[in-house]
Amino acid sequence: MAADRLVGEALEVELERLLEEGASFPPSQEFVGSALISDTAVWDRADADPVGFWEEQARELVWAKPWDTALDDSNPPFYDWFKGGEINASYNCVDRHVEAGLGDRVAFHWHGEDNSQRTITYSDLHREVQLAANALKDLGVKPGEVVGIYLPMIPEVVVAMLACARIGAPHNVVFGGFSAQAVAERMEVSDAKVLITASGARRKGKAAPVKEQVDAEINGRDGGLPSLEHILVVKHAGQDAPMLDGRDVWWHEQLQSADPDCPAEPFDADHPLFILYSSGSTAKPKGILHGTGGYLTGAAWTHKHVFDLKADKDVWFCSADVGWITGHTYIVYGPLANAATSIMYEGAPDYPHQGIWWELIEKYKATMFYTAPTAIRACMKWGAELPAKYDLSSLRLLGSVGEPINPKAWLWYHLVIGGGNCPIVDTWWQTETGHIMISPLPGVTNAKPGSATRPLPGIRAEVVDEAEGNEVERGRQGLLVLRGSWPGMLKTLYGDDELFIQTYFSRFGKETYLVGDAARQDADGDMWVIGRIDDVVNVSGHRLSTAEVESAIVGHPAVAEAAVIGQSDEQSGQAICAFVTLESSHATSDEIMAEINQVVADRIGKFARPKRIIWSDDLPKTRSGKIMRRLLRDIAEGRALGDVTTLRDPAVMAELEKQVAAQASEEG
Ligand code: WTA
Repeated sequence: MAADRLVGEALEVELERLLEEGASFPPSQEFVGSALISDTAVWDRADADPVGFWEEQARELVWAKPWDTALDDSNPPFYDWFKGGEINASYNCVDRHVEAGLGDRVAFHWHGEDNSQRTITYSDLHREVQLAANALKDLGVKPGEVVGIYLPMIPEVVVAMLACARIGAPHNVVFGGFSAQAVAERMEVSDAKVLITASGARRKGKAAPVKEQVDAEINGRDGGLPSLEHILVVKHAGQDAPMLDGRDVWWHEQLQSADPDCPAEPFDADHPLFILYSSGSTAKPKGILHGTGGYLTGAAWTHKHVFDLKADKDVWFCSADVGWITGHTYIVYGPLANAATSIMYEGAPDYPHQGIWWELIEKYKATMFYTAPTAIRACMKWGAELPAKYDLSSLRLLGSVGEPINPKAWLWYHLVIGGGNCPIVDTWWQTETGHIMISPLPGVTNAKPGSATRPLPGIRAEVVDEAEGNEVERGRQGLLVLRGSWPGMLKTLYGDDELFIQTYFSRFGKETYLVGDAARQDADGDMWVIGRIDDVVNVSGHRLSTAEVESAIVGHPAVAEAAVIGQSDEQSGQAICAFVTLESSHATSDEIMAEINQVVADRIGKFARPKRIIWSDDLPKTRSGKIMRRLLRDIAEGRALGDVTTLRDPAVMAELEKQVAAQASEEG
């Protein structure tokens, strides 16, 4: 209850005490007593026969045809899970629950940022998904053809994804925070045939004319988008939209005229379920392609067991956006495969007020809450007094995802949101892995603030040395790798098997997946993930590539060169810091700075705008011309400079330091 939650001075004292003590947190007896998994036997079972373990989990789903081979690993890294099996993801997320008599169960308590509410039951989903699937078929969409989805957090986004899954059309969802230009690019590279978008989106009380922006981008392109035949438009946020005859159709009209009956067709287990573009170390985002049977098995098992889900009682609240992998797996496929009841919130965490999440937890009696460390840190800044105003006593489990959680934020989450008695699962995974890989099991694991603890049963994660890829001693930092395969593993990079191999398997062979994170295992064997080793920056849990932002910045005509780094940031984990050199004909100015920010917002999205732009006459480069980002990070964070002897012109650094100091004093 609100009354026994710590606030103010008492909270600070307790946080300091726990931090100093380095406390660890075993689950309470009460939690263990009712947990789905309450001892370590599950790891023994999986270690003895990992493939058999995953087969057992796959049998929890309904297959139209059972598989012949549980895992074909004859051609790594192209692993084939449940080969010969046939399945439909939408059937498993919807129909089978309705057939089991759960049609009246709420799938989503949807809450709009304007306080409007919609209750979506499994029967509602069943009806809507069939209509939408037929609507897509009526537009000519065939199995294997890509459908783009660019929608706000409204129930239609889930319906659209499941409709695609129903007819075997891989969806390509683009996060609503991306710009129209980023959407058009993603549609182009994935050869999308149809794009489902909205006339408008609510953004903190205002309405953004989404369709108009998409139109301006697509119609303004030379030759438009050749593959794109139709745009299906959901009417939202009270916005009308320009409609192009023959190309554009309203969602409500198209569904109204569609046949209500659309039986789910079975597809091969490895049929592509979706593409999700994610940032890597190059300027071009990578199309991460996921299959169906393996992915759904991993999504369902992890959602049930990492969060100890009792679907008939729990109310699940994942605060992610559907446009990221966390939303795909833990708003859509995992919870729906498990017939869970979820809360879906349309708006931002601070709109209409900074306590909205707690208000929703109280209102819908959420029992579980899954969010990102950056959001927890924002809530810490807003103060413990805010959540203390709400009754959060329905909560019994908390989760964290997206970046390393600093121990203080973990403890705050534990005390202030969890009231000191909810286990926290710090879940490590990636877009590529499809589902959680390293995490406590809440009824078993002794949680340590800041550590994702152990690989889940059936998962092999190791920390290895850079040179040979051998496991390093405990306590030493190294590279995080995953051995062999797991059900939700990406199938490939869309249309580019070579790049898939080169990106993840060129370092230590085709049976060792290079994660791209540094990590360390402590004496107890618990994993501490440190952060990326490549040029991927994690801003508020949003994955961005420095090259992608650089490429946007140099798109400004006055910019000669740009180097982007991720700078540590108390709030967002990392923040974008750009070193920019202008053409000699241009002088630095606040106007150009604003224009550069605008260019980034247009090319990628507002969330990718640099927090800081540092003007520089020259950048530190090696003799071969490679920018030394390590030195830029040192400068940005005000650290003593590392080794500068390999620089082509060591004097550059002294000059740059002077410029940074001058700019800092100017900015006050
Ligand atoms: C980071 C998000 C530490 C990591 C699901 C990874 C984490 C990248 C954690 C993937 C965690 C995610 N602890 N770091 N619990 N979870 N990361 O693809 O660097 O958006 O490689 O997937 O986020 O980001 P992505």
